[in-house]
Amino acid sequence: MSARHSRPKGTQDFLPPDSGRKRRVEEVFRRLAENAGFQEVVIPTFEHLELYVKSSGDTSDIVTKEMYSFKDRAGRDLTLRPEGTPGVVRAVLENRYRMPCRLYYAGPCFRYGRPQRGRFREFNQLGVEVLGEASPRTDVEVIRLGDQFFAELGISDRTIQLNSIGCRNCRPDYRAKLVSFLAGHRTELCDECRVRLERNPMRAFDCKNADCQSVLAGAPAPGGNLCPECEGLLRLVRQDLEGQGVAYTLNDRLVRGLDYYNRTTFEYTSGKLGAQDSLGGGGRYDYLVEEFGGPSVPGIGFALGLERTMLAMPASTPEERRKSAYVVWLSEGLLDEARKLLERLRTAGVPAQIDYDARRVKHQFKSADTASARCCVVVGEDELAKGVYSLKDLVTGEQTEVSSGEIVERVRRLVGTRI
Ligand code: HAM
Repeated sequence: MSARHSRPKGTQDFLPPDSGRKRRVEEVFRRLAENAGFQEVVIPTFEHLELYVKSSGDTSDIVTKEMYSFKDRAGRDLTLRPEGTPGVVRAVLENRYRMPCRLYYAGPCFRYGRPQRGRFREFNQLGVEVLGEASPRTDVEVIRLGDQFFAELGISDRTIQLNSIGCRNCRPDYRAKLVSFLAGHRTELCDECRVRLERNPMRAFDCKNADCQSVLAGAPAPGGNLCPECEGLLRLVRQDLEGQGVAYTLNDRLVRGLDYYNRTTFEYTSGKLGAQDSLGGGGRYDYLVEEFGGPSVPGIGFALGLERTMLAMPASTPEERRKSAYVVWLSEGLLDEARKLLERLRTAGVPAQIDYDARRVKHQFKSADTASARCCVVVGEDELAKGVYSLKDLVTGEQTEVSSGEIVERVRRLVGTRI
């Protein structure tokens, strides 16, 4: 196939059954988020470039190296969104939406990274943002919500990493300490970390260079240099998580890759994912609303990676994949009866198909299997005379006769109702 007809590097197609799994994952997320009082916000997939430079940060890799930025025909600088948080904050302020508020979103984001397993150039985030709640109990609710989502999808191999990266009061002292430490090791650092040293030294914790990592192993950790207030808040978050039985690992070096964070930061990781092990992440951003020209209102949220979630999930069972019924007709004269049954099933909300083209019964069964049907309902002369259908479960191979009055309900139970 010519390059013109292959998908761009780092993008992906979702065909069945993956498209169904994707939808199921989104639906679990929506349900849990709505249960916790979040309502959906839909924001544009592209924004003014400046929005991201000012918030995600002009020292973050995402903004400096990974954005799909372009000029439109009128010369405006725009960018495909690499994440949702700045757009949500902008939307709330621009529309004067009430705060406090709890909003969630699901949709594509774009980052020009090196594609690999679990890392795409177009990927989907499932995110929540809380604007206007300062209590550490909110931190715990948000962290738990992500954890519940992964638990519900059967991802048992998961860890929550927790840290606090301080506030406006303690961060300057910590920064000075870190700069002085790193300056003492300047010659051992990579070129990029030397620049980071001047502009945003905490970024060095994210550096993949082995020499930098060995220097940083001895560096003062952000989570170990907090003011008493930040210490106290982190303690409350930890106590509350423990009280609710949510397991976590304290990682005093977790800094996160975006500039707007302060205090609580967290990441969900899974051993199933390999190098790109972050299932999702988030934290507090108590200054962002104000920096966007809004009132001084705290914020906290997370974004979960949909593709990584799907990679970490257990493989679906045949029962989960097979969600429709197939109506099989034994002879030409039975087609009208078969179509009546098809209509009864569809009217009752049971996904059902038929193969009009295949004359031979064997081929109809084959079509049912190709379509991943859960069962075949066979319309035959003898059965019709008795007022029954023969129902074949394509997963178990079991075959039974079911009366015309009961057939729709039986099939519904077998395929599950439409999601
Ligand atoms: P983030 O850590 O940059 O945070 O991204 C969140 C999640 O998106 C990652 O943990 C990962 O699962 C997924 N992700 C990121 N990049 C890629 C990629 N190239 N391919 C596949 N998946 C990817 C944020 O974006 C923040 N906005 C989260 C947040 C919300 N903080 C507060 N509120």
